[in-house]
Amino acid sequence: MREDGDILLSLVAEIDGEVVGQVTLSEASVGGSEGWIGLGPIAVTPARYHQGIGGAMIRASLDWARERGAAGVVLTGADTYYPRFGFESGEVSYLTTPTRFTMRHVLNGPPASGEIVFCWRAAGSGIMSAHGLRL
Ligand SMILES: CC(C)(COP(=O)(O)OP(=O)(O)OC[C@H]1O[C@@H](n2cnc3c(N)ncnc32)[C@H](O)[C@@H]1OP(=O)(O)O)[C@@H](O)C(=O)NCCC(=O)NCCS
Repeated sequence: MREDGDILLSLVAEIDGEVVGQVTLSEASVGGSEGWIGLGPIAVTPARYHQGIGGAMIRASLDWARERGAAGVVLTGADTYYPRFGFESGEVSYLTTPTRFTMRHVLNGPPASGEIVFCWRAAGSGIMSAHGLRL
C-alpha cells in the first residue's frame, strides 16, 4: 500500500519506545459515493492483546477521520469486535465477503450504502485478506 501511495494515515501504538500496534487508513468509496475511509489492516503484537491497544487505535482512527470530514469509515472484520466501536453491518458489501463481516461507521455522512471499493484494490495493488496478507 505504501509503495502505491495508497496510505492516508498509518498510526502506530508505542509502549516504552516499542511499536506494539499498527493501523492503516486509506481512501474508499461506498456505493459509488466518495469520501469514505477504509480501516485496515490493523494488528497488535500478540503479547499485548487484550490491553485495549486495538481499541485505542480504532478510536483514534475514527477521531482523525471525523475531523478530516470523512463521510465515514468502512472495513471488513469480525462482527463480534467492531460493533462496540459503532460499526454496523447490513448496509455495505465487499466482493464475496459475508455481509455480517462488512461494516460501516457513519461519521459526517451522508450514510451511503452498497459495495465498498478500497482504493488499493482500484489501483490494482491486490486483494487483502482479513489478516492483512496480500493474495
Ligand atoms: C484484532 C486485534 C487488533 C485486537 O487488538 P487488541 O489490542 O487485543 O484489542 P482490544 O484490547 O481493544 O480488545 C480486545 C477484545 O477484542 C476481542 N477481539 C479481538 N479480536 C477479535 C476477533 N477477531 N473476533 C472477536 N473478538 C475479538 C477480544 O475478545 C477482546 O475482548 P476481551 O479483552 O474482553 O477478551 C488483535 O487481536 C490482532 O492484532 N489480531 C490479529 C490481526 C487481525 O486479526 N486483525 C484484524 C483483521 S479484521
